[in-house]
Amino acid sequence: MIAHLVQQLLSRSLTGESEIALTSQVPSRLAVCQEFEMIDGLGLYLHIPFCEQICPYCPYNKELYRRDVAERYAEAVKREIDFYAGIVGKRPITSLYIGGGTPTTMLHSGLAGILDHLRGTFVLQCDIHMESHPNHLSTDNLRLIRSMGVEHLSMGVEALFDRHLKALRRPYTVREAQEAIGRALAQDFKCVNVDVIFALPGQTYQEIEQTGHALVKIGVDQVAAYPLFRFPYTRMGQTGRAGNHGLLQLLKRRRMFKILERIFYEAGYQRTSVWAFTKRGVPRYCSVTVPLYLGLGASGGSYLRGLFYLNTFSVLEYIKALEHGRTAIALSVALSERMQRSGWLYWRIYETRFRKADYQERFGHDLDQAYGRYLKLLALLGFLRDDGEHIVLSDTGAFWLHACQDLFSIDYVSRLWGTSRQDPWPEKVIL
Ligand SMILES: C[S@@+](CC[C@H](N)C(=O)[O-])C[C@H]1O[C@@H](n2cnc3c(N)ncnc32)[C@H](O)[C@@H]1O
Ligand code: SF4
Repeated sequence: MIAHLVQQLLSRSLTGESEIALTSQVPSRLAVCQEFEMIDGLGLYLHIPFCEQICPYCPYNKELYRRDVAERYAEAVKREIDFYAGIVGKRPITSLYIGGGTPTTMLHSGLAGILDHLRGTFVLQCDIHMESHPNHLSTDNLRLIRSMGVEHLSMGVEALFDRHLKALRRPYTVREAQEAIGRALAQDFKCVNVDVIFALPGQTYQEIEQTGHALVKIGVDQVAAYPLFRFPYTRMGQTGRAGNHGLLQLLKRRRMFKILERIFYEAGYQRTSVWAFTKRGVPRYCSVTVPLYLGLGASGGSYLRGLFYLNTFSVLEYIKALEHGRTAIALSVALSERMQRSGWLYWRIYETRFRKADYQERFGHDLDQAYGRYLKLLALLGFLRDDGEHIVLSDTGAFWLHACQDLFSIDYVSRLWGTSRQDPWPEKVIL
């Protein structure tokens, strides 16, 4: 209740809106083209909504893999790429991320064709980052992934204790996961990222300590460590204790987070996002890194300056829409200048460091004028540092940003994704 009140207050004062409403109004091709008149370069996100099993904690849009559906999906994605070809033109694509679901389910059923089509259509001036599942990482598959041009690979390992893997219903043992990490590291990826989840039910501090040391010993390039978020519409969200905000839970997460932080800093890793630690000198694995992006595939979201829109979450509806020559856009919202500014600031801080001049370049006025008093307050609290040229998030700030994420993103995401998963074409979603 209090968390909800704080959330409303913060949201109102930052965005200037009492509520954000996404509606089923589909932006016209002209409206999308007009957004592009002001865009020089952008990112691409491609969603692969298939998995071989459904994990009980997972909030993402996915369904069980079927080869025939995946092959039709690949053709639909190519049609969506064609739709954007004339709009994007020769503008460079400066970031490409393939996420899911599990992109590696489509290794033998259309992923290479999609990537070839992307290369043939757009001017790609970036590396490719892709998520994968440990069970898909045989040496042959890893070579195939590299031959498709993927340079940065992430794998969802989640835990290094068999009892936790069992509780999370992950279909492999610790030993198998470690072998998969070893095989991935033996290929010439620029960065191999391993995802782990902490603050699992019954997990001890000692287990976290051992997990951190084991990852350092294996020599992974990057570790992304997320606390277990309970999304109300997932199986674990319904059966476990509701909410993430309990004080004890928060303190436990903070202590575990600190343990991991210490281990990775001592081993020479540096923080490269709120959750990620990367070996010094290694380019970080990350999702779309530019402020403006197009989302392809079922549930793909696009953020184009004054416009945000989201494709239908239903794989079948997505395929049908594109087969009938329509776009798959299900929800959209026009973003006020203030919403754009606060959204921009949130994501730049999330990346832990940004140039103040970038704000000036994007919005045409001074960051200090717009947000100076908030930034000063956060600096006083020790959450960030302002060196005159950059804003840099501190370790304390990173943790509290995570607590804020609980307040905002999880609630927003649950409303938006929860509704979109139930209804392929919702009339309206209020955030
Ligand atoms: C799309 S999955 C990764 C690729 C692949 N599907 C897999 O599971 O191996 C993205 C990552 O999000 C994280 N994740 C998913 N659900 C989560 C939750 N409820 N709380 C915290 N992290 C979660 C996991 O670390 C997972 O690896
Ligand atoms: S965690 Fe990964 S494998 Fe599990 S359901 Fe989510 S996307 Fe699929």
